[in-house]
Amino acid sequence: MNRREILDWLKTEDADRLEELWKTADTVRRENVGNAVHLRGLVEISNICARDCGYCGIRAGNASVSRYRMTADEILDCARLAAGFGYGTLVLQAGEDHGIASAWLCGIIGSIKDETGLAITLSLGERDDADLVAWYRAGADRYLLRFETSNRELYERIHPPLPGRDSDRFQILGKLREIGYEVGSGIMVGIPGQTYDDLANDVMMFREHDIDMIGIGPYIPHPGTPLGREGDRHKAPDGEQVPADELTTCKVVALTRIQCPLINIPSTTALATINRAGGREHGLSRGANICMPNLTPRKYRELYEIYPSKASCGENADESNTRIKNQILALGRTIGT
Ligand code: 5AD
Repeated sequence: MNRREILDWLKTEDADRLEELWKTADTVRRENVGNAVHLRGLVEISNICARDCGYCGIRAGNASVSRYRMTADEILDCARLAAGFGYGTLVLQAGEDHGIASAWLCGIIGSIKDETGLAITLSLGERDDADLVAWYRAGADRYLLRFETSNRELYERIHPPLPGRDSDRFQILGKLREIGYEVGSGIMVGIPGQTYDDLANDVMMFREHDIDMIGIGPYIPHPGTPLGREGDRHKAPDGEQVPADELTTCKVVALTRIQCPLINIPSTTALATINRAGGREHGLSRGANICMPNLTPRKYRELYEIYPSKASCGENADESNTRIKNQILALGRTIGT
């Protein structure tokens, strides 16, 4: 598919044509990555963040957030849960918390590997090369860092760098690959100021860069953020602004599957949040092959509020696990082993 065709699909509202898109994406998914949905247990290990991203509820400037960092024992307990549920991978995610010391996390990675043998994915923001190397050597397998949008100007507006630093996520993704990590990235759909042209470029980027997993979620306004409060002022003109809705997110999931047949695509929590009744299922039947059940202890979940009303809030790990497995089986898919 060329850029023109992608753009055309992104703008279409024709229900019959869209049925055709969903069908094609689902077929490409089945033929290339099969019927299994792989489960990756998500542990939100800290909501402390040095950054001030315009969209994110746990940004440093949001003084109303109570901050936490899980202990090593709490993280290990989550790893045991993941192994018990039969998951293959544990994802350790946090704000950009520079209090997560290199050696401390190396110890945790080593213990998780020794005890459970789980694959370990890190999603800890833009960290120094030395940390990234140390964690890889300690046993981490993958790293997730969304580039959020390929429009540099929009990215800079919503994503201020640390003082005196540059924030170039494409450069970091290259570095991560060089170190040896499998690399995940992704975008938000419907950021105020994001145009259809931008979104078509994002989809083209997925193919150009050698990325193993792509997470695609709708942008959800958070009232504790500048973009959440004043997003309307930043919107692109009518007809150009990408809507932050389920339909557009699913189109991007489907187009990404068609463009990158072998890639891993999660059906994201953000998609399940904007349509609680069917968002996760729609993602899975329109190209996705991964789910990330939340394993974060209940008392911390509410505090990891990157956007409001996250679908995983108000449940514990057991409930998230059961609900997601049932949703997968009801679609006639199998659970990856
Ligand atoms: N709406 C949707 N997604 C968000 N993220 C952060 N804030 C929001 C928001 N308000 C996403 C970003 C980040 C990932 C961990 O969560 O894409 O990379």
